Amino acid sequence: MPIKISKHIQTKAPSLFPDADQASVYTAQQIAELIHQKQREGNQVTLGLATGNTPKKVYQELIRLHKNEGLSFQNVITFNLDEYYPIGPDNDQSYTYFMRHNLFDHIDIQQENIYIPQTNSTPQEVAKYCQAYEDKIAEYGGLDLQLLGIGRNGHIGFNEPGSSFASTTRLVNLHPLTREDAIAQFGTIDKVPHQAISIGIHTIMQAKRILLLALGERKSEIMNKALSGEISVDIPASILQTMSQVEYILDQEAAVLIQEEDRV
Ligand code: GLP
Repeated sequence: MPIKISKHIQTKAPSLFPDADQASVYTAQQIAELIHQKQREGNQVTLGLATGNTPKKVYQELIRLHKNEGLSFQNVITFNLDEYYPIGPDNDQSYTYFMRHNLFDHIDIQQENIYIPQTNSTPQEVAKYCQAYEDKIAEYGGLDLQLLGIGRNGHIGFNEPGSSFASTTRLVNLHPLTREDAIAQFGTIDKVPHQAISIGIHTIMQAKRILLLALGERKSEIMNKALSGEISVDIPASILQTMSQVEYILDQEAAVLIQEEDRV
């Protein structure tokens, strides 16, 4: 049953960019500014990070800012949204490998400040592990900023359609469309895991600031539904419409179906 909340209670107009490069540079700038601000205050900053193709250019720009413009990650703590279950951290399809390769190996973050769900717990131990991940985020005072992509079925993290808006970190079953989209990464459907550990929708909603980045025409349909459709567990990202700390960042292709009234 969809939750009935009147539309656009809190949604700000999406930030639209002519192309993926400009949207990604803008996103990286938002993250870099927050890191600088926390440095000036003498504080740590806790970032929730995403994987997939969408954030790759954001990470490239953060690396550039580190290498060319002196952006330091010494005060940064990161928590990744999710990881396949089970998968070894050295497997090059794992998100641990992805994060090292696309970001962490190229910046000065302290290794002990990196948290990515590890999926070596047995099915009996996994709930305890997930609670510990959740507790760790809370220990740092929650996420200062959560970077999100969106799945074609509206998932955020691996919170698939049907996920409770009250969910926290847990073991989840992957949706057929999500597994199909992962073939590009794993080669064949039988190699794509059926499960993952994902932080919950509630965990995401607790973040002080949320940047949802959507790039390319293949995200246009779901972005239209997520931004302007009914708020329902069938489209997990739709709950973000109710939250004032969310900024949607879209390139022109992802925004083609966004209605005029939602642009202003
Ligand atoms: C995976 C990740 C999500 C990501 C989504 C979209 O399912 N768990 O966090 O947002 O893919 O991926 P892409 O950016 O490659 O379209």
